[in-house]
Amino acid sequence: MVNVGVIGLGRMGMLHLMDCLHIDDVKVVAAADSSKKALNKAKSFGVSRLYTDYHDLLNDSSDLDAVIISLPNFLHFESVQLALEAGLNVFVEKPMARNVDECRKIVRLVEKSGRKFMVGHVMRFEDDIVKMKEAVDKGVIGKLEVVTVEEVINGPFSHPRVPSPVAEWWFNPEKSGGGALLDIGYHLIDLFRFFTGEDCGAVFSCLDYRFNLPVEDGAILVLRSSNSSTKGIINVGWYQKTIYPKYDFNLTLHGNAGYLSAADFRPRSLYVHALKEGTKNLLRKLFGRKITPLSYTYYYEAFYKELKHFFDCVKDDLNPSVSAVDGLKTIELIEKAYKLFNEKGRSVD
Ligand SMILES: NC(=O)c1ccc[n+]([C@@H]2O[C@H](COP(=O)([O-])OP(=O)(O)OC[C@H]3O[C@@H](n4cnc5c(N)ncnc54)[C@H](O)[C@@H]3O)[C@@H](O)[C@H]2O)c1
Repeated sequence: MVNVGVIGLGRMGMLHLMDCLHIDDVKVVAAADSSKKALNKAKSFGVSRLYTDYHDLLNDSSDLDAVIISLPNFLHFESVQLALEAGLNVFVEKPMARNVDECRKIVRLVEKSGRKFMVGHVMRFEDDIVKMKEAVDKGVIGKLEVVTVEEVINGPFSHPRVPSPVAEWWFNPEKSGGGALLDIGYHLIDLFRFFTGEDCGAVFSCLDYRFNLPVEDGAILVLRSSNSSTKGIINVGWYQKTIYPKYDFNLTLHGNAGYLSAADFRPRSLYVHALKEGTKNLLRKLFGRKITPLSYTYYYEAFYKELKHFFDCVKDDLNPSVSAVDGLKTIELIEKAYKLFNEKGRSVD
């Protein structure tokens, strides 16, 4: 049994906690959050040890094997450091940390600790992405020339039915490390690295500040891989209010022998997909077979899969497919993009 502590019980932490309930040989025995309401919710899922201060959870962690960290960005570095020093295996939400300096330190701490460490690069676990990667590796589209990847959503402005204020740290560059590029661009840059399998550099960067926030609310970035010269065009934004199941995410892989589009690999209707998967699970239940948890929620299933992968690595002593170096390389590119843009004095003429 892998005994787990969940640190941070907001949107992501609660999702991870609920996913853990469906993973064999994993038990959430402790949870920490500064919000009592969040702790009460964790209690209702059977978590017995609850802490308002995550330092207390880590000081009291002798029976824990791993922690899942879903705190605001400015607390990633410190909590990862303390967890690794306490001898725990660590899963931390993206971004790994706020800047290159913190990321480099995490890479060193992970090496020194010998523990399993994984960052939540969840898009690598989406069905469409997995299938596209297999096709690229088989050479279906020949040499990969250009990757265009876009995601425009409402970012931190997304809220439940009753609007609630955005937590202060999101718009404080000191605490968040950045805006839309760091928040969403992080995933898209990682996808470029995933598909090319190479290191890459940033060659052009244009940031947007349409909401006059201290952090960017949109960005366009051009990348180039080191060896194959594959180009990447990244387009992200926090400025669009689309309603689920509409989702403004597009990925096209342009090769010299064809192209692949993520839209062709995703269910045409997420509702029909949910219905099909729900029915399959019902039949599995009727015939005493194991259900496939969350398969009906097309995108959310990837969060389950990434966590399961992390715990499989903990149990089988394997290295997770996303490493601390992946987190560092992504943040290096983001810092380079900020530098490129700021060198031009926020002007592109
Ligand atoms: N992988 C993804 O696609 C994805 C999506 C959303 C968010 N994230 C990342 O997950 C992390 C958390 O984001 P979120 O949307 O869940 O935020 P959130 O605001 O919903 O949750 C953060 C939680 O941390 C708690 N918290 C804050 N300070 C604390 C402290 N000092 N001690 C204990 N608890 C504290 C808050 O009470 C809150 O419950 C961020 O780093 C974000 O970038 C990743």
